[in-house]
Amino acid sequence: MRAEIIAGLDIGTHSLKMAVLQKRGEGETPEILGFGEESSSGVRKGSVVHTDEVSKKILALKDRLSTISGKSIREVIVSIGGSHIFCVPSHGIVAVSRADGQISQEDVDRVLQAAQAFSLPSNKEILEAFPQQFVVDGEERVKEVVGMKGVRLEADVLAVCGFSPYIRNLTEAVIEAGFEIADTVPAPLMAEPAVLGPQQKEVGVAVLDMGAGTTGLAVYEQGDLIHAAVFPVGSENITNDIAVGLRCEPDLAERIKVGLGVSRRGKRSEKLETAEGQPLAFSQKLLSRIVQARVREIFQLVNKELKQISRQGALPGGVVLVGGGAKLPKIVEEAKRELKVTVRLGKPQGVVSPQSDPAFLGVIGLLLGAARDGYYGRGSYAGAGFLQKVRRVFRPFIP
Ligand SMILES: Nc1ncnc2c1ncn2[C@@H]1O[C@H](COP(=O)(O)OP(=O)(O)OP(=O)(O)O)[C@@H](O)[C@H]1O
Ligand SMILES: [Mg+2]
Repeated sequence: MRAEIIAGLDIGTHSLKMAVLQKRGEGETPEILGFGEESSSGVRKGSVVHTDEVSKKILALKDRLSTISGKSIREVIVSIGGSHIFCVPSHGIVAVSRADGQISQEDVDRVLQAAQAFSLPSNKEILEAFPQQFVVDGEERVKEVVGMKGVRLEADVLAVCGFSPYIRNLTEAVIEAGFEIADTVPAPLMAEPAVLGPQQKEVGVAVLDMGAGTTGLAVYEQGDLIHAAVFPVGSENITNDIAVGLRCEPDLAERIKVGLGVSRRGKRSEKLETAEGQPLAFSQKLLSRIVQARVREIFQLVNKELKQISRQGALPGGVVLVGGGAKLPKIVEEAKRELKVTVRLGKPQGVVSPQSDPAFLGVIGLLLGAARDGYYGRGSYAGAGFLQKVRRVFRPFIP
């Protein structure tokens, strides 16, 4: 039976976000039935470090979303975040098995397996592998090879990997909350289905997720993921810099940061006082200098990463900003200046959604990605390799 709803869960450093999507008939725009958010606890730099704490938060969201959507939610698509996530380009070679040299789906599966058979430290694992291109008898840039004739089949693959103990903590937290995991998505990749159209993914484009503890980068070209990275720096660092620079506690620093958009218009409504009740006075110039220094550092990290894949200043589709950190005023201008490409704020596409907050684009993307890949619920995913991927994550739980 076809599942009519899809639930997504984005476990972040600042907050956990959950949403439920109502599937519609062919050609009809799906609709999001409800959103929920819980402040995070037990998550450090995007990684689940205290399973029980995270599990309680998930349970609270599960109950809330079940009430909002009026459906009982049994399984969920989950993001796997954290600065432990990295990608490895890899290559596989097999001999075409049929005597007549016609390449079969089985050959494709074998070469993709071969490309994933590289050595990783025992505490790291592949989360998902993305085929980049196939090579048939030395002829490159082939995307579809089934039915072609050849002797030797090669595949280039981008494997997105992570640190197994954090992955285990995360899956445990979700399962403890009473969910089955329908699929997992590496966090830097989750927003793409919500903010990019197929055309944009062709020309060379990046999605930059400006989270609290991390900044995630995903680069797409010719429709494929070509690079992914997670930096251990985020909007939380801006808050800490403000606290240090203005000598105030982090809670107040956070309020100052989030209120920046207000203060620029000179209409700050709340009085700023330290915990001791002292009024806090500072110049806007000092504040912008503190914020700008950290924002620049983040974009410089992005530039360095893009340089490694020869895409620095060379993304015709530009950069799309998502995540709560993208709500900082003038962030688009700052990003343009540092990255030297076009930059825009992500907007949800192809969905009816009561929510357009950039912090929720990740969870919206989880839902739209699942809908795009043909989610049927109860583990019957249409996407090839899906079960294998989940088995890998589930290994500690499957007897
Ligand atoms: N109006 C605002 N202006 C500036 N920053 C904001 C604003 N609103 C929220 N933020 C910041 O956005 C961050 C939260 O974003 P988000 O929810 O995307 O992070 P997260 O997903 O929990 O973290 P991560 O992805 O790093 O694990 C917080 O650091 C918060 O201070
Ligand atoms: Mg996030």
